[in-house]
Amino acid sequence: MLRIHEKLEKNSILLLIGILVTIAIGGIVEVVPLFTIDETIEKVDGVRPYSPLELAGRNIYIREGCYTCHSQQIRPFRDEVERYGHYSLAAESMYDHPFQWGSKRTGPDLARVGGKYANDWHAAHLIDPRSVVPGSVMPAYPFLQRPLEGEDMAEHLRTLRVVGVPYSDEQIAAASADLAAQADPEADATALLAHYPRAAIADFDGDPRLTELDALIAYLQVLGTMVDFTSYRPAAAVAQPSAETTTAEAQ
Ligand code: HEC
Repeated sequence: MLRIHEKLEKNSILLLIGILVTIAIGGIVEVVPLFTIDETIEKVDGVRPYSPLELAGRNIYIREGCYTCHSQQIRPFRDEVERYGHYSLAAESMYDHPFQWGSKRTGPDLARVGGKYANDWHAAHLIDPRSVVPGSVMPAYPFLQRPLEGEDMAEHLRTLRVVGVPYSDEQIAAASADLAAQADPEADATALLAHYPRAAIADFDGDPRLTELDALIAYLQVLGTMVDFTSYRPAAAVAQPSAETTTAEAQ
């Protein structure tokens, strides 16, 4: 063994080939599992693509860098589950491009913040966090009260479809109408709810104009609410495939 190694060390071409082979093996090990990603993420009832308003809010969340202080992944540890709720499922972020798992918690995890507070709490908190949480170090975002520029949502939906989010032609065509309908409780929401079941409809910030706050709050309120955990059972507990079939499929 040492002899072979000596040869490798003394011959730069051999060493180069050796390095290439080693790196190629590492690369294959990392890349090959991605080919089976469709089977890896279990399908979970209730998970749907974001509505245009929620997606506009998500874009603002990314633009403002909220992920630099907030994670969106509840790990399967007791302290996390007791504080934030059921641990995050892979399916819950399957339509997130890019995902917002984050790696820093200056503020709390937001994976299940949906429904935790009322809409007007979020509006007050985003405009001035100290008005509702004295001593908060979160920055204020009063400028989010400006009108939302949502004319290009159809393009956003179409782009996400390219990377695998199953938006239909109908959903793309209705993007602007759905966007407006979700922030207007007076509007006819039949089409919106057919496209995005259980989407919350409200004037989220209490301002009759359609603002960036409306979109961001719609997004925050849907986080972690798509799956009904009173009826959810992990796939492994329902049907346990035997170890042999799983390995055979993987090969
Ligand atoms: C500098 C770090 C920082 C940034 C950036 C930040 N936050 Fe926060 N956030 C915090 C801290 C700290 C708290 C806890 C105190 C509080 O509630 O204000 C918090 C709390 C929250 C809460 C309440 C969570 C709960 O469960 O009580 C929400 C919702 C929230 N932030 C949303 C946002 C959004 C949306 C953005 C981007 C527009 C954002 N945050 C940007 C630090 C930050």
